[in-house]
Amino acid sequence: MATRGSWSSKTGFILAGAGSAVGLGAIWRFPYVTGANGGAVFVIAFLLCCFFIGYPVMVAELTLGRNTEKNPVGMFNKLSGGKLRWKLVGALMLLSGFTIFAWYSVIAGWVVGYLYKTVTGQFHNVQNLDTNQVFAEFVSNPLTVTFLHALVIFMTSFVVYRGVKGGIELLSKWLMPLLFVLLILLAIRSVTLPGATEGLRFYLMPDFSKLNGQMILAAMGQALFSLSLGMGTMITYGSYLSKRENIPASAFWITFFEIIVCLTAGFVIMPAVSAMGKDFASGPELIFVVLPSVFGEMPGGYLFGVGFFILIIIAALTSTVSILEVPAAYFVDEKAWSRKKAVTVVAVVAYVIGTPAAMASGASEFWTNLPGLGTDFFTIMSTAFGDVSLSIGAFFVAIFAGWHWGIGRANAEIESNGNSFAIKKLWGFLIRYVAPITIFIVFAHVIWTQVLR
Ligand code: TRP
Repeated sequence: MATRGSWSSKTGFILAGAGSAVGLGAIWRFPYVTGANGGAVFVIAFLLCCFFIGYPVMVAELTLGRNTEKNPVGMFNKLSGGKLRWKLVGALMLLSGFTIFAWYSVIAGWVVGYLYKTVTGQFHNVQNLDTNQVFAEFVSNPLTVTFLHALVIFMTSFVVYRGVKGGIELLSKWLMPLLFVLLILLAIRSVTLPGATEGLRFYLMPDFSKLNGQMILAAMGQALFSLSLGMGTMITYGSYLSKRENIPASAFWITFFEIIVCLTAGFVIMPAVSAMGKDFASGPELIFVVLPSVFGEMPGGYLFGVGFFILIIIAALTSTVSILEVPAAYFVDEKAWSRKKAVTVVAVVAYVIGTPAAMASGASEFWTNLPGLGTDFFTIMSTAFGDVSLSIGAFFVAIFAGWHWGIGRANAEIESNGNSFAIKKLWGFLIRYVAPITIFIVFAHVIWTQVLR
């Protein structure tokens, strides 16, 4: 273990796991995907996916990782006895690691840019600004977006390079609780804004006529994304976990924190959307067009704005770190590269493949309106390596843990060292049947309705 590194304590691990989970997925992605998918019904679907797919898959990933002390490729290779098809699943996770790191850093870069704008007082007179236009101008500057993208990749690499304990745990330990306090205060401000009611209604009163397959895929993708599943992050983090720790309990806390932060972020954004007269379905720009106005409506808004953007950047970093960690651990474990070389190579590749994504919101006409596709490169990349690849990854984790490796071995690993697993029957049922069948049906349905008809 000495060379691989490990978590220093139980709370250290839960915090690192929660640090991985809590990030832009909760604060940026959850509100805009909720807005684009009809509000409350989507939230219900999201919660169901967290309980019935997310939680069981998280237990499976942590267990597989701890048992083998390996990255996803090494884990599948070891436990399947070197079967090619399982190695391919590991390879897909690795690919997701590169690509998600690439596009996620673009958005984290936007947050850094918004911090800069806030600090320099550019939102001073926000009531008189068209925040949609401010955003459009910001993201269409190629130098700004590519520079900020590089900056985030660099900061992440620096933390990952320092290694598991020193880098990752430390960041998670102190700042996440503070972020949560700030979120609560902002939610209180939003909910009491004049015009908040419509947003609250949208967020809380389900309109079941809006239910459809596409939305359920989005809810599933959001659940997996925000819980850091389907890509091997939790396999890799599990590999640094000591045998003493209680996996089901840790997974419970991580899931719990993540859900709370997502829901709170919804209370910050949704009421503000209606209060500020914005469109729920604005897409990825949603929080950027709403938040500056919320800060403008509160006493001490300048300090709130600065503090909040700093904390989101840190939350994003504890997540990017956990994404980069997967390919980095692969090269270190399987290819015997030095940590420095692994991190550098992944960072450079992610920068290159992320650049078109950074340019896809107006900075480059080509990547913004891909000829013949009717959409932009960022949307394609974040759907393919966000919703789709994570669902495939989670499907195979469930099949692997539930059927191939088997719940008997999984339970033995979970209960090693005398930890008892109270809901093991339920977990076995969820991981063998509910999770994989649901993922399969949602997929089949979306392919049938979107592609074949
Ligand atoms: N869950 C993180 C967030 O919400 C992002 C993340 C980290 C992630 N590791 C992942 C997403 C693995 C998918 C897979 O910000």
